[in-house]
Amino acid sequence: MAATKFLLAFAIWRLIVTVGFTVVPVELLRLGIEGQLSVETSHVEKASGDFGMLTREEPMAVMEPGSAEDVARLVEAAYQSAQGFTVSARGHGHSINGQAQARKGVVIEMSSRKRGMRVWKKEMYVDVWGGELWIDVLKATLHYGLAPKSWTDYLYLSVGGTLSNAGISGQTFIHGPQISNVYELDVVTGKGELLTCSEERNTESFHAVLGGLGQFGIITRARIALEPAPHRVRWIRVLYSNFSAFTKDQEFLISLHEKPARERFDYVEGFVIVDEGLINNWRSSFFSPTNPVKIESLKSDEGVLYCLEITRNYQEDDEDTIDQEIERMLEKLDFMPKTVFTTDLPYVDFLDRVHRAEGKMRSKGLWEVPHPWLNLFVPRSRIADFDKGVFKGILGNKTSGPILIYPMNKSRWDQRSSVVTPEEEVFYVVALLRSAVDSQALHLLGHQNRQILSFCHDAGIKVKQYLPHYSTQEEWKDHFGDRWARFSHLKLHHDPRRILASGQRIFKPLTTPTSDM
Ligand SMILES: Cc1cc2nc3c(=O)[nH]c(=O)nc-3n(C[C@H](O)[C@H](O)[C@H](O)COP(=O)(O)OP(=O)(O)OC[C@H]3O[C@@H](n4cnc5c(N)ncnc54)[C@H](O)[C@@H]3O)c2cc1C
Ligand SMILES: *[C@@H]1O[C@H](CO)[C@@H](O)[C@H](O)[C@H]1NC(C)=O
Ligand SMILES: *[C@@H]1O[C@H](CO)[C@@H](O)[C@H](O)[C@H]1NC(C)=O
Ligand SMILES: *[C@@H]1O[C@H](CO)[C@@H](O)[C@H](O)[C@H]1NC(C)=O
Repeated sequence: MAATKFLLAFAIWRLIVTVGFTVVPVELLRLGIEGQLSVETSHVEKASGDFGMLTREEPMAVMEPGSAEDVARLVEAAYQSAQGFTVSARGHGHSINGQAQARKGVVIEMSSRKRGMRVWKKEMYVDVWGGELWIDVLKATLHYGLAPKSWTDYLYLSVGGTLSNAGISGQTFIHGPQISNVYELDVVTGKGELLTCSEERNTESFHAVLGGLGQFGIITRARIALEPAPHRVRWIRVLYSNFSAFTKDQEFLISLHEKPARERFDYVEGFVIVDEGLINNWRSSFFSPTNPVKIESLKSDEGVLYCLEITRNYQEDDEDTIDQEIERMLEKLDFMPKTVFTTDLPYVDFLDRVHRAEGKMRSKGLWEVPHPWLNLFVPRSRIADFDKGVFKGILGNKTSGPILIYPMNKSRWDQRSSVVTPEEEVFYVVALLRSAVDSQALHLLGHQNRQILSFCHDAGIKVKQYLPHYSTQEEWKDHFGDRWARFSHLKLHHDPRRILASGQRIFKPLTTPTSDM
C-alpha cells in the first residue's frame, strides 16, 4: 500500500513536471486507487496509438485500473476538477482513427489485467470485466461447454470496445450483433457514478451505452448470453461471377434465420475478389495448399469474383447426417459449378481464424502498418449500384486487403440502441480492410476511400459508416440524422462535461469550469 501511494505521488509529481500542469486536480491526488497511474514513456506511448496507425495523441497519464471503483474514482475526479480533463477507456486499442485516445487526458487501459469471469451455467450467461478480450471469454465459457452466440471475425478485441460499436460477423443474421446479446451492464458515467443497467433497470442508459461509441459511460462489467458450444464447423466457400446471383443467394440464406438449425447455415459472409491478390490476402490460407484454386482459370467478364462463405456448426453425434444436410442446402444455390471449397475444423479454430492469419502477417512485417479501413452499411436496394461504382469501378485491380460483403436483417437489431443503420430492412456491411505498406499506398487508399464516399453521396446511396469517423459535428449530425437530438440529449445527461471517449471527436470536451447541468 505504502509503495502504491508513493508511486502515485511520484506519478503526480512527474505529471506536473512533464505536462506543466499549473494546478493538479486535488481529487486526482487523493484518488487512492487499487490499480496504478503511470506517466512512464512506454505506457504513454502505447496509449497514444492504435491499430490504424493513422493518428497519435498523447495522454498526460495512463491508468491500469484495479477495479470498477478505480474507474469511477478517476472519472469523478475529472468531473469535479476545476479545469477538467478527458478520460478514455481503451480496450485492445484496435480502433482505426484514434477513438480510444485522450489528448492530454487519462487513458484507462481496460485490458491490462486478467480477471476472473463468472459463468452461470444454468442461466447460460457469463459476467465479464469490460476490458476482457473475447478470446478469453471464449476459453472460459468453453470449460462449461458453453460459448457466446454472436461474434466478431477477430477475437483479440475487448468486450467494452465491440459493445461500444455493435460487434458484427456472419452470425449476426441469426442472433443480431453482439449488442443484442447482452443482458446487463455495469457502467461508470461521465459523472463518476457506477450504475447497473439492463432491460429492466436504468433502461435508457442500457440502450444508450450499447453502440454508444463510449459517449455515455465506461463498461466495467457485461453479462453476455451463452449457448451450448458446437464441437466442429464445416466451413464452405463457393464462387460467383454474377453479382446479382451472389447477393440473391446471400439474401436467401439470411432469410432462413428463423428456421431450425438443420435447415439453414450458422454463419453467412462473403468477400470480393478483384485481383489474384486473393493468394496474398490474409484470409486466403483457406484456398491453399489443400484447396488450390487458380483464379485466372475462372471466367469473369469484368474481372471481379465474389466468394460466398458459409458454415455449419455440428456436434460429433451429427457427423452422419451433416453431409447430406449441407448437400441439400448447396443445391439451392446458384454458384459457379465446381467451385466448392470445404474445410472442417474445431469450433475454436474457426472462431480464432483471423488470429492465425495475423501470425503470418506479422512474420512478414505486414501487421503493424497503417490501416486506412472503411466500413459501410449499404442499403440493399442500392447494393448493385455500389458494385458497379466501387468494386467494378473505383477499386481498380488492386485491393491491398480483404473486402468483406454480407447482408443483415434489421429485425435482429434493437432500434433502441445507439448504433445507426440504414433505413432499409436489409442492408449490407461492406468492409474494406486494407493495409498500406508505404506512404504512396497510404495516399492512394485514402484517396480511394474519399472517392467511394463521394460516389455514394453523388449517387444518392444512403450509406452509414460502421465504426464511424468524421471530423466535423455537422457530419456527425448527418450520420445520426433524426437520432441526433436523442444522442446529444443523452450525452448531456450522462456526461455533461464531455469527459468520455473524446477520441471519437463527436463532442468537444469542456475543459473550463462549468456548472452542473
Ligand atoms: C483485425 C480487426 C478485426 C476486426 N473485426 C471486426 C469484426 O469482425 N466485427 C466488428 O464488429 N468489428 C471488428 N473490428 C472492429 C472492432 O470491433 C472495433 O475497432 C473495436 O472498437 C475494437 O475493440 P477494442 O477493444 O480494441 O477497442 P478500442 O480501440 O480500445 O476502443 C474503441 C472505442 O470504444 C471505447 N471503449 C473501449 N473500451 C470501453 C469500455 N469498456 N466501455 C466503454 N467504452 C469503451 C473507446 O474509448 C473507444 O472510443 C475489427 C478490428 C480489427 C483491428
Ligand atoms: C445473373 O444472375 C441473375 C439472378 O440470378 C440472373 O437473373 C441473370 O440472368 C444472371 N446473369 C447472367 C449474365 O448470367
Ligand atoms: C427480415 O426479418 C423479418 C422478421 O423475421 C422477416 O419478416 C422478413 O421477411 C425478413 N426480411 C428478409 C428480406 O429476409
Ligand atoms: C491492373 O491495373 C493497372 C492499371 O490500370 C494495369 O496497368 C495492370 O495491367 C492491371 N493488372 C492486371 C493483372 O490486370
